[in-house]
Amino acid sequence: MNSQLRREYLDALGLKTWTLRTAHGTADAPSLVMASRATSAAPAPSAPASALAAAVPAPARDVSAMREAGLDWDELRARVAACTRCSLSATRTQTVFGVGNPHADWLIVGEAPGAEEDRRGEPFVGRAGQLLNSMLHAIGLAREQVYIANVLKCRPPGNRDPNLTEAAECLPYLERQIALLKPKIMLAVGRIAAQNLLRTDKTLGALRQQVHRFGLSDVPLVVTYHPAYLLRTPTEKRKAWDDLKFARDVASRV
Ligand code: URA
Repeated sequence: MNSQLRREYLDALGLKTWTLRTAHGTADAPSLVMASRATSAAPAPSAPASALAAAVPAPARDVSAMREAGLDWDELRARVAACTRCSLSATRTQTVFGVGNPHADWLIVGEAPGAEEDRRGEPFVGRAGQLLNSMLHAIGLAREQVYIANVLKCRPPGNRDPNLTEAAECLPYLERQIALLKPKIMLAVGRIAAQNLLRTDKTLGALRQQVHRFGLSDVPLVVTYHPAYLLRTPTEKRKAWDDLKFARDVASRV
């Protein structure tokens, strides 16, 4: 993508605002408050990964990670669609498997489907998804070039945070997706995704601007803010932009 086109994407979506704003300089800031699990006002008990690690003994985790071993994309998709491993199967409209290029270098991982994703069966299709697309465009990536998935395949009611059981039951699906995809880099968007993937309860601020490694596959993993959080807190877009450039540099060296 040439720089003029990228600039147009940045401008069209207010991403000139990747430059720091003052607290009052947000006239063009989106006023919609997304249903953001990443920044929920009344956080429900979530699944910080250290708690996840404590709750699910290591051998059990290893066994559960193997449950999907050997499945190809179609088999995995069918297994996810039929999943009843946690109570979210009772409240979902449909599972949200993931979308994108099965040969992508980049895997973007969010938290869980929201209402729009649950309705349409595709991750990041709401307003946060539009900003995610713009963030990707800003570093020269089209949505169709990457693969996008979530820690959870089903929507938690009311967009509450995933709980320990849900995350533990669902992560093996993402692990199999990663094994099939073999991405060069993973970008975890938001605290919940980062904490679950890295099995830590560190803050997002403490996790960004570093190269982590995901699981046995050892894929480089970079953390940034959730686009729904950025819609609510546009002054943080500068830091997200720094993270994206950081991730792009990491990917260019793999
Ligand atoms: N937020 C997420 O984390 N994932 C989605 O798919 C949509 C919103």
